[in-house]
Amino acid sequence: MKRLLITGGAGFIGSNYVNSILSSSDDFVVNIDKLTYAGNLENLKDNETKRNYKFVKGDICNFELIDYLFTKYKFTHVINFAAESHVDRSILGSEIFYRTNVIGTNILLEAAKRHGVDKFLQVSTDEVYGSLGEEGLFTEKTPLSPNSPYSSSKAAADMMALSFYHTYDLPIAITRCSNNYGQLQFPEKLIPLMIINALSDKKLPVYGDGMNIRDWIYVLDHNKAIELVLDNGRVGEVYNIGASKEMPNIEIVKLVLNKLDKSEELIEYVTDRLGHDRRYAIDSSKIQNELGWSPQFDFENAMENTIDWYLNNKNWWERIINGSYQDYYERQYGKN
Ligand code: NAD
Ligand code: DAU
Repeated sequence: MKRLLITGGAGFIGSNYVNSILSSSDDFVVNIDKLTYAGNLENLKDNETKRNYKFVKGDICNFELIDYLFTKYKFTHVINFAAESHVDRSILGSEIFYRTNVIGTNILLEAAKRHGVDKFLQVSTDEVYGSLGEEGLFTEKTPLSPNSPYSSSKAAADMMALSFYHTYDLPIAITRCSNNYGQLQFPEKLIPLMIINALSDKKLPVYGDGMNIRDWIYVLDHNKAIELVLDNGRVGEVYNIGASKEMPNIEIVKLVLNKLDKSEELIEYVTDRLGHDRRYAIDSSKIQNELGWSPQFDFENAMENTIDWYLNNKNWWERIINGSYQDYYERQYGKN
């Protein structure tokens, strides 16, 4: 049985992970989350009374707190999901990205070094590789070339985790996944933003020419891969995760409109994102060959389920868009 420290477990991917792990194992889980705008305890409501689960509201940058939690709970495993995760916000202001994503990771690594763990999994992103042209895929050997404050902070954290392996033999592993979609994703990200705007008959803001390509994966496929790397991944190694589903943004937007039976006249081409990466695409053959992982969810079905989830959980996203998210939206897209 593991004694797991999960950070950022009230966010999109982390809360899906906590929900899955607590419904399928007896592992003891401590979830530390600062509850930034992106953290939502409602995502975790089914776990509140479970005896093998503890939630701690706290900042991964607080060494005393992290050290205390390691002493108290004697963690065997750490999964670091906690991050500032939205590229557009990192362009508006980068400081908090370097604080949480770099300093926060450093504090977790230092605590893990001091107390010892069986495995420390750093959840990273394909964005650390930069942008692809029309050809080719990111492999684990692709040189790091991050282009946004967000991706550069994630790349710094990756290098730091690897340095703790080489210098101190800390048993770390890193996963680098492509774009996730699914239930509980904060509606600043492309797919939930487009679903919610379409449902509200608001304009759908498409950056630039809409032909930037992302490689989409269902969140539960990502999380299964994380579980496998945690259990069987080799230490000191990086594992790419992706489901080989490349789509230009405009196709995603049209698919959402089509499923919701809304007019394409809602599409509005807006000023491009600064430094916008053109294309991401993942080669995930390493994790497939070494750990036997492969994506289980079909894109069409999983997208349909995702759209249905937002249709059926209006309360969840209405509470978000009525709150401080409104200020960010106006800053990013103007009043409309
Ligand atoms: P998210 O923004 O939905 O959630 C992040 C969570 O971290 C939130 O609950 C937030 O409250 C918490 N958090 C932020 N700062 C914190 C701090 N200082 N201390 C404690 N908690 C803090 O992000 P997500 O989309 O769920 O992404 C999770 C991880 O996966 C991130 O590390 C991200 O870089 C990585 N990732 C995301 C994707 C994607 O498509 N969303 C793809 C690949 C990798
Ligand atoms: O690739 C993995 C990364 O995917 C993760 O590391 C990040 O945490 C996650 O946010 C995501 O980054 P992206 O920048 O690719 O995701 P986002 O949903 O913000 O944008 C997806 C694409 O859609 C991108 O090309 C920008 C475009 N876009 C986005 C928004 C929010 C628009 O055209 N209009 C929009 O309003």
